[in-house]
Amino acid sequence: MRKNIVAGNWKMNKTFEQADELVSTLVEKLEETELKQNTLMILCPPYPYLEMSTDYSNDSYFMVGAQDVSEHEEGAFTGEVSAAMLESMDVEYCIVGHSERRQYFHESDQQVAAKVNQLLAHEIRPIVCCGEVLEEREANKQFDVVKRQICDGLFHLSAEQFASVVIAYEPVWAIGTGKTATPEQAQEMHAFIRSLIAEKYGKEVADETSILYGGSCKPGNAKELFANPDVDGGLIGGASLKADDFMAIATAF
Ligand code: PGA
Repeated sequence: MRKNIVAGNWKMNKTFEQADELVSTLVEKLEETELKQNTLMILCPPYPYLEMSTDYSNDSYFMVGAQDVSEHEEGAFTGEVSAAMLESMDVEYCIVGHSERRQYFHESDQQVAAKVNQLLAHEIRPIVCCGEVLEEREANKQFDVVKRQICDGLFHLSAEQFASVVIAYEPVWAIGTGKTATPEQAQEMHAFIRSLIAEKYGKEVADETSILYGGSCKPGNAKELFANPDVDGGLIGGASLKADDFMAIATAF
């Protein structure tokens, strides 16, 4: 059975002390309130806080993910962080192709594919983001855009490799804007993504793939989003910065 996942994307927020406080508060809350058996929590803090987070995660309350990775193996790439480095720090997941990377750092589907390859070579599971911008939705091009992102970023993988991938559908117009996709819009796109996977890799692989929703997901709307048959959790930005909100979302399944 595929996993329900709630992943917190902290983006570029919090000092070390604030980050430490958030993780330790989450650990306390997870000691009080166990998540459902099939639910996995992942924290994706900024790079400098990965080690602190994996130290706390040793008791297996949650897994730790990075927010990005270099498409290169190693060498003279000042400022970059490689998959080998993440692996050596016990990082188990990594977000790839977030819309902010695509928009502000001009990351292409080809770079997304190269990053996915790096991660899989180092046994890190990629959380691959896709989603349309507002003008694309208004022009009813959302399915074409998401199909291109998924095909070009992921469909070079073998079925065995694809089994490690988590997908996050994040309509860009809903990220950090307070505008959430309706549960119907989310379900429609998630079902479409699952059908693409089934066409390429077969129904079994598609049924095992966790597809997360992202974009202004919060305690007030998580339940109705997660109630949809093809919505397997969320990639949470703003609401993952507050322990109470993040826990409320993680227990909304
Ligand atoms: P948001 O961000 O929850 O703040 O909208 C989601 C994301 O960008 O992953």
